[in-house]
Amino acid sequence: MTDRYAVVGNPIAHSQSPEIHAAFARQTGQDLDYSRLLAPVDGFRAAIEAFRSAGGKGVNVTVPFKLEAFDLADEVSQRARDAEAANFLDFEQGRIRADNTDGMGLIRDIVHNLGFVLGNKRVLLLGAGGAAQGVLTPLLEYEPSILTIANRTVEKALRLAETCRRKAVAASSVLCGLGFDELAGHHFDLVINATSSGLRGDLPPLPAEAFAAGALAYDMMYGTTPTPFLAFAAAHGVKTSDGLGMLVEQAAESFRLWRGVRPQTAPVIALLRDP
Ligand code: ATR
Repeated sequence: MTDRYAVVGNPIAHSQSPEIHAAFARQTGQDLDYSRLLAPVDGFRAAIEAFRSAGGKGVNVTVPFKLEAFDLADEVSQRARDAEAANFLDFEQGRIRADNTDGMGLIRDIVHNLGFVLGNKRVLLLGAGGAAQGVLTPLLEYEPSILTIANRTVEKALRLAETCRRKAVAASSVLCGLGFDELAGHHFDLVINATSSGLRGDLPPLPAEAFAAGALAYDMMYGTTPTPFLAFAAAHGVKTSDGLGMLVEQAAESFRLWRGVRPQTAPVIALLRDP
């Protein structure tokens, strides 16, 4: 019988995960079915239980259910624990196992696909919500010289930096939280947008001088048109990347965890860019 997987979220119609996993399955000769599952905002647990009872093998989890997925699990990986959220659930052996492949997806895209060396670089992370928290520890493991978290609500940036400092990840990196108005006079080699500002077509209030010469601007979001953040960066001559590579890389790591084989991502990224 064909193994069944799904991506669960609300909304979910826009998700490209089914196309990505179908491409991985073709490439690796695996027999599986991967669909979209819309769960009511207050019905995540019931949707998971129904999918499991019907024989589903695992799910990816997206907005707004990553915290609930983390809470639902019987077993939680260190990566999910660091992120305090899960985008991956596995239902083998009668248990719910949670992981988080988002951070690894971002790192693989930045380091392997874009060839950006993170070690000793000045990194600015915009946002202090779930998306930012999910990538903080993996970024610190690459030991940038500085990792600054800038957020509209300053307290959240300070709290996130403090929590991370207590965990003592990459003690060699200077880690600080601040507000956007404190960025004047600071320059960064990599600026990652982990805010949800793009969803409403907004630009985070970032001074252009935040981009050092030769900097990379990375938006964790992906859409058919550049986000206001990427448009702003490009208008100032900065190299840019959207989050499509991250999306495919987090999916590849999910596929590996479920199927025991790591698919090649470059052809799938190319396919999605130019269908
Ligand atoms: P997610 O899980 O996508 O990170 P979240 O936890 O709601 O969602 O966090 C959204 C992040 O985007 C927050 O850092 C938020 O800033 P606040 O903490 O001040 O709310 C940030 N954000 C949303 N809209 C923004 C905007 N227009 N400009 C700047 N930051 C914005």
